[in-house]
Amino acid sequence: MKKSPNLIFHILFLLLLISPSVFSWKKDEFRNCNQTPFCKRARSRKPGACNLIATEVSISDDGDLIAKLIPKTQENNESQDAPVEVDSKPLLLTVSVYQDGILRLKIDEEQSLNPPKKRFEVPDVILDEFLSKKLYLQWLSEEKIDNDLGFSSVVYLDGDYEGVLRHDPFEVFVRERGNGKRVLSINSNGLFDFEQLREKKEGDDWEERFRSHTDTTPYGPQSISFDVSFFGADIVSGIPEHATSLALKPTSGPGVEDGFSEPYRLFNLDVFEYIDESPFGLYGSIPFMISHGKARGSSGFFWLNAAEMQIDVFGTGWNAGQDKIMMPVDEKRIDTLWMSEAGVVDAFFFVGPGPKDVIRQYTSVTGRPAMPQLFSTAYHQCRWNYRDEEDVFDVDSKFDEHDIPYDVLWLDIDHTDGRRYFTWDKVLFPNPEEMQNKLAAKGRHMVTIVDPHIKRDDNYYIHKEASDNGYYIKDASNRDFDGWCWSGSSSYTDMVNPHIRSWWADKFSYGNYVGSTPSLYVWNDMNEPSVFNGPELTMPRDALHFGGIEHRELHNVYGYYFHMATSNGLVKRGNGKDRPFVLSRAFFPGTQRYGAVWTGDNTAEWEHLRVSVPMLLTLGLTGISFSGADVGGFFGNPEPDLLVRWYQLGAYYPFFRAHAHQDTKRREPWLFGERNTELIREAIHTRYMFLPYFYTLFREANMTGTPVIRPLWMEFPAEEETFSNDEAFMVGNSLLVQGVYTQRAKHVSVYLPGEQSWYDLRSGAAYKGGKRHKFEALEDSVPAFQRAGTIIPRKDRFRRSSTQMGTDPYTLVIALNSSKEAEGELYIDDGKSFEFENGAYIHRHFKFSNGKLTSSNAAPSGAGGNKFSTDCTVERIILLGLSPAPKSALIEPANQKVGIEMGPLTIRHGNSPSFLTIRKPKVRIEDDWTIKIL
Ligand code: GLC
Repeated sequence: MKKSPNLIFHILFLLLLISPSVFSWKKDEFRNCNQTPFCKRARSRKPGACNLIATEVSISDDGDLIAKLIPKTQENNESQDAPVEVDSKPLLLTVSVYQDGILRLKIDEEQSLNPPKKRFEVPDVILDEFLSKKLYLQWLSEEKIDNDLGFSSVVYLDGDYEGVLRHDPFEVFVRERGNGKRVLSINSNGLFDFEQLREKKEGDDWEERFRSHTDTTPYGPQSISFDVSFFGADIVSGIPEHATSLALKPTSGPGVEDGFSEPYRLFNLDVFEYIDESPFGLYGSIPFMISHGKARGSSGFFWLNAAEMQIDVFGTGWNAGQDKIMMPVDEKRIDTLWMSEAGVVDAFFFVGPGPKDVIRQYTSVTGRPAMPQLFSTAYHQCRWNYRDEEDVFDVDSKFDEHDIPYDVLWLDIDHTDGRRYFTWDKVLFPNPEEMQNKLAAKGRHMVTIVDPHIKRDDNYYIHKEASDNGYYIKDASNRDFDGWCWSGSSSYTDMVNPHIRSWWADKFSYGNYVGSTPSLYVWNDMNEPSVFNGPELTMPRDALHFGGIEHRELHNVYGYYFHMATSNGLVKRGNGKDRPFVLSRAFFPGTQRYGAVWTGDNTAEWEHLRVSVPMLLTLGLTGISFSGADVGGFFGNPEPDLLVRWYQLGAYYPFFRAHAHQDTKRREPWLFGERNTELIREAIHTRYMFLPYFYTLFREANMTGTPVIRPLWMEFPAEEETFSNDEAFMVGNSLLVQGVYTQRAKHVSVYLPGEQSWYDLRSGAAYKGGKRHKFEALEDSVPAFQRAGTIIPRKDRFRRSSTQMGTDPYTLVIALNSSKEAEGELYIDDGKSFEFENGAYIHRHFKFSNGKLTSSNAAPSGAGGNKFSTDCTVERIILLGLSPAPKSALIEPANQKVGIEMGPLTIRHGNSPSFLTIRKPKVRIEDDWTIKIL
């Protein structure tokens, strides 16, 4: 066995642990671009530095456009002015085309030329289904563009777009057919560079040092960098995870703000007390950027690469005076620079043209978000740590006492026997099954934490099996990597290996995970992976994985594999019947298929409440719809005002969980006086009321990729006023929510987009769209509005948990637009199993027009053989915006007349104003019917 880190380190480390104040963000612990050789090299290149040209362009047997990229030499240099570069072999370029106008560009070393090593390509992210949509590419023409010296090859993308490979200088872009307007391009600024692997020569010093760590870098420099331009773009967004605005600020060139001179970093890291405005990389990485502009709409660019990446967004005019750029200079665009330490170019161009189109295209490659179980879309109560069973029961019963629903109680690392995951502390949690069953009897669930660091203890069965079988990641000397994390000296299973993933998945069977029951689900944390004594608190880059892959090549995908293996474990334990629920901190493209994520260790500060919105919106834009931030802030003690505002906003997060650090004061909802308890109860009730709407949106995400919460510009793409608004957001297409981000706020300014009005959720009052309004900041809610022209399904009766609401009747809130019309949807299934995939669901479409509400089936015919059925009825229909007030309505086909009366907008509020209400129409939610206003 390898020696554990020395004693002094352990003592120092323990000291650090007990002193929380030292855990403020320590910039110096992390590399900046200048301390990261590949980033420094790439950033110092000048536009036009790339001298590669495309030659031997042809269509391959597979129907791809292929070419060789070679340096321009005196012989092939028609203009005689490019530098001559020796010592580099041709690169192989491949352009493929897929359905829905997707262009894929790959550039790698030529394997036939025997490079020292095959560079890593990320497996298990791209869907097979996507690969099957490859088209046999059609060559359209060879042409000369803008007085080019060389030719360009033009290929067909779809009816509206074509792809172009410019040969000399080499450039790839997508343009609109007909008008030739560019959408997206690569290497238009000539910044492409590909460091080819080579044998080490005498005198080469490849080692990289940072603080006390040395990276042996045995294969030498192997980075790739290139520029990408987004045409017609007013903003670019995406590339999580950073705690910053939704519209990414420039990091290079003119207009760089303080604190933003570093590129956006994509390197999964465990960052204690991260700050709220920074391009610094946090726990997860998605190298996917989406642009949006008034002129054209949206486009997207995705680089599938799991090594450290750094991305610059250039301020307009960054390259003024450069004569080497190759595109029309007068066109509006945003230029970016993408730099990665290793891997290959495997890039996808998405043409949009709408924001939802881009997300559909991106998630057709990486997968749509999984359909969650209903309970997991409700409220979660977490804390590091609920001490023991008594504490659990106490918290559980207090929720009931205070009439606050909740669905899930979470147990953090200290429920285990000495932080050995899959075990229980026998003294604190002597009867875990009984505990879970008691909660399950109220329809509640539990979640326990399972981290990837495995305690190196020979008496711990997981460690024993993993070390005996050689399942651990190896260090550069090929011994089991030994690092320090919550469990002390630990090793990390090599989740990149499918066999090890399957072994891990088996650990979740009820037989193996002793004390687990079907109502127990899982939380994966520290899976960046976090290594407290590693360089930048993570695994050394020269650690080795299955197949000799270096950690540097796949760092960002490690957490994804861990999440995948755990999620597969939960599916396996129930013989594939139930949907899994696994929350992960680290993420990568594709994570949306395996579960939810949260934004890690935020702080109980107003600015962290504010930044949670752009962070979650960004995750949604990049496929990960099921996400949330710790309500209340993980570090520190929120003042009651902040906590209440956080609940009021968090009630609209797709994933709604309160969580807190072990050193914080207890902050369950009833600990801040009666009024605050009431306000928090109210906020949580709001979420439960909207659960049918949320669940319908989760299904929409599952079908199309469109996220549950959306930037305003996703629904109002032509309205410039919305482009930089990340303080408000849309929940689906029908609700607009604005956070309150200051203490004791008196007023809130809210921009309501569009031409139609908006109905205040509390007062029902209508406000004009296309305008900014100043509202009084009410204590009892954050401003939220229903858009005119929509119908929202709700469940207004309050129970202990979502599970207990199963047979409750629905309320439909119809908000009429100026043409007295409205539309909405409702999706229902068993909330739990995969049967919905076989057609066992109900999908209704509601439409109000010509004074008539119609409920019709929205499920495609032949949706599958299975059926889901429910006896649920509609108990109330509220009509907003109808005048003069009708007296009654006729229900068909029952041919029954019901009265229309005035009723409260929400049943909980005694003082809620009254609106036209059809009470007890008693129609079944799953049936076809109409209700005609008489
Ligand atoms: C990490 C997690 C946090 C958790 C803690 C202990 O800091 O981000 O949520 O409570 O570890 O497991």
